[in-house]
Amino acid sequence: MSNSAPSKVALITGCRSGFGLLASLDAARAGYRVYAGLRDLSTAENLRAQAGDLPITPVQLDVTKADEREAVIAQIQEREGRLDALVNNAGIAIAGFWEQLEEDELRTMFEVNVFAAWALTKACLPMMRAQRAGVIINITSMAGRMATPGLGMYAGSKFALEGMSEALRHELRGFGIRVVLVEPGPYKTDIFGRNRRMCRAFEAAQSGPYAALQRKVAELFDRMEPKMGDAREVSRLITRLLDDATPRLRYPLGPNVLPRLMIRKLLPFRLEERVVDLVLGK
Ligand SMILES: NC(=O)c1ccc[n+]([C@@H]2O[C@H](COP(=O)([O-])OP(=O)(O)OC[C@H]3O[C@@H](n4cnc5c(N)ncnc54)[C@H](OP(=O)(O)O)[C@@H]3O)[C@@H](O)[C@H]2O)c1
Repeated sequence: MSNSAPSKVALITGCRSGFGLLASLDAARAGYRVYAGLRDLSTAENLRAQAGDLPITPVQLDVTKADEREAVIAQIQEREGRLDALVNNAGIAIAGFWEQLEEDELRTMFEVNVFAAWALTKACLPMMRAQRAGVIINITSMAGRMATPGLGMYAGSKFALEGMSEALRHELRGFGIRVVLVEPGPYKTDIFGRNRRMCRAFEAAQSGPYAALQRKVAELFDRMEPKMGDAREVSRLITRLLDDATPRLRYPLGPNVLPRLMIRKLLPFRLEERVVDLVLGK
């Protein structure tokens, strides 16, 4: 363990782009020694270039691979002897309707968004419990509060992570470990560009039972795209939460998030259905 090192250590997953990249830079500027996980370490160029002299160590971490999770935790344990924050940020979204997704597509999404976050958190807990302190920040989504057509399976993975995290928060309170959910609305990141994914059937369907709904969803997406938020807002929130001693459980943020939450809270689902129809132009 290095003596001159700043005392706080964070592990952030999915740091090639988007929230993970920005949060690793912000957290390092805020005084953290950051272990920045990359699904493929050979893509670290951009992160390295932006990091300059900041205390960021890019690490090979495909979150779905048990050996890579274990190696990173062992490295942090050996070099730092502590872990103050885990940010489960790595995630994928595969769009498509319930009937269109194939099992392998659903499993792939749940592997990254749910199982990997569960497994990595589990692996980090012994260190955090031993030091009787730490924070786990899970990046879920507004889709983890309200599901919309065409993104139901993604929403399912985020609802799952929300529910698991809610229980985890209760379970860890007695150990001095905080559990926090960051629930972004749409923000401009690579998830809508380089990493934009549709299930195979969705991509193929120009006709058939879902073609009309698919067009409506695509039009909605086109209208939404220019209104997407600036990802730095999310990264700033994540960084602030690293040092918040008494955080809430949930932090929704982003365009249209408050109206959506109000609809969910105040309207019976029957009326929510009408709102969804209106938004889709049905
Ligand atoms: N942007 C939004 O509007 C929005 C809204 C709500 C929630 N979110 C959530 O925010 C998180 C970050 O997404 P983003 O918007 O910043 O998108 P992004 O730019 O696509 O970032 C996602 C990151 O996750 C990584 N990743 C994917 N699979 C991985 C795996 N198996 N192991 C390790 N890393 C993996 C990606 O690496 P590669 O590129 O190398 O695959 C990428 O670095 C996700 O959990 C997403 O669901 C985003």
